Amino acid sequence: MKRRYLLTPGPSPVPSVIREAISQEIMHHRTDEFIQILQEVNEGLKYIFCTKNPVIIFASSGTGAMEASVSNFFSPNDKVVIIVGGKFGERWLEIAKSFGLQPLVMQIEPGFAPSTNELKKILQDNPDTKGVFTTLTETSTATVFDIKSIAALTKDKNILLLVDAISGLIQDQLLTDEWGVDVVVSASQKGFMLPPGLSFICINKKAESFLKNSKLPKYYFDLDKALKAYQKNDTPFTPAVSLIMGLKKSIELIKNEGLENLWEKYKKMSLATQAAAKALGLEVFSKNPSSSVTAIVSPSGLNAKDIVKKLRKEYGISIAAGQGELEQRIFRIAHMGWINEQDLIMCFSLLEKVLKSLGYKFNLGASLVALQKSFYE
Ligand SMILES: Cc1ncc(COP(=O)(O)O)c(C=O)c1O
Repeated sequence: MKRRYLLTPGPSPVPSVIREAISQEIMHHRTDEFIQILQEVNEGLKYIFCTKNPVIIFASSGTGAMEASVSNFFSPNDKVVIIVGGKFGERWLEIAKSFGLQPLVMQIEPGFAPSTNELKKILQDNPDTKGVFTTLTETSTATVFDIKSIAALTKDKNILLLVDAISGLIQDQLLTDEWGVDVVVSASQKGFMLPPGLSFICINKKAESFLKNSKLPKYYFDLDKALKAYQKNDTPFTPAVSLIMGLKKSIELIKNEGLENLWEKYKKMSLATQAAAKALGLEVFSKNPSSSVTAIVSPSGLNAKDIVKKLRKEYGISIAAGQGELEQRIFRIAHMGWINEQDLIMCFSLLEKVLKSLGYKFNLGASLVALQKSFYE
């Protein structure tokens, strides 16, 4: 039986202590015991989101919280700017269109981060803009966006800034309150080291004021209802009890390491991965690489999908190919959640074997030397 090694940008591996927490005997959610757990989890999430404001938990994948961000704060025909630099900027656009908003697309070349000057100009030319949707880490291009500079443009205006931090949170720094980000969404299956199934949405006071004016339909994802329950450490509907028990453990692990240390650790892993790729003569795709995932351009003449497939089929190692137009051109190696430097060393060792078998010429062991230099020196 083959072992499975996950170096994909979600789901990421789940540590055994979290699996044990999840597999505890189920309990009823309307009990003092569970309310106590929710209270602890609610406090812990504030630490992870760098906020004093509520973080609501839904039983859904991250896209559920993205949908809630559109349906709760806006009304039909509201003008919003959507920064699209890849697949997940596109997701914001698709949701906004589904709910009848009037989206203005700020298109960015894949692999680049948005220019704040361009956004500033768009906002000056469109003073009726109600919201800006963007992404902390555009997973499809492995690019981190400068949220601090974007937030500086919306902070003191009546414009809501909504950030998808589904893959970036915990690896890429996001100082929600300090930078003035109004809404942040995330999900369980990446930095949190949990299985898929929970989404999170952090809402500040400005966002709460937008809630009251929204005229879009919502039922399960109704944040007003969720916030009322949240005040009593309760949930409007049956919560994902077992995953929340796992979340309590995940928060404990993250707090023990400390966010500052984690940001540093993942940055180091990202730099090491970039160095390893370059040592093989390969190009790092992103011009502003994230600490959560690295995208590497496939050698000319080699289809990224074949590399990914061979690595998984022969060695049980899962990395990800590109998405959309980049599907065959790049492959992506994640360094998020529980993935560590040992995983990267193992992954690159077998990646070399796969590249060699596909006919790519390089100095055997070059990526491993680069990793060792990054990690051991
Ligand atoms: C940046 C980003 N946004 C949104 C999503 C979608 O999240 P989910 O698949 O949990 O709905 C993902 C998932 O990979 C992501 O990386």
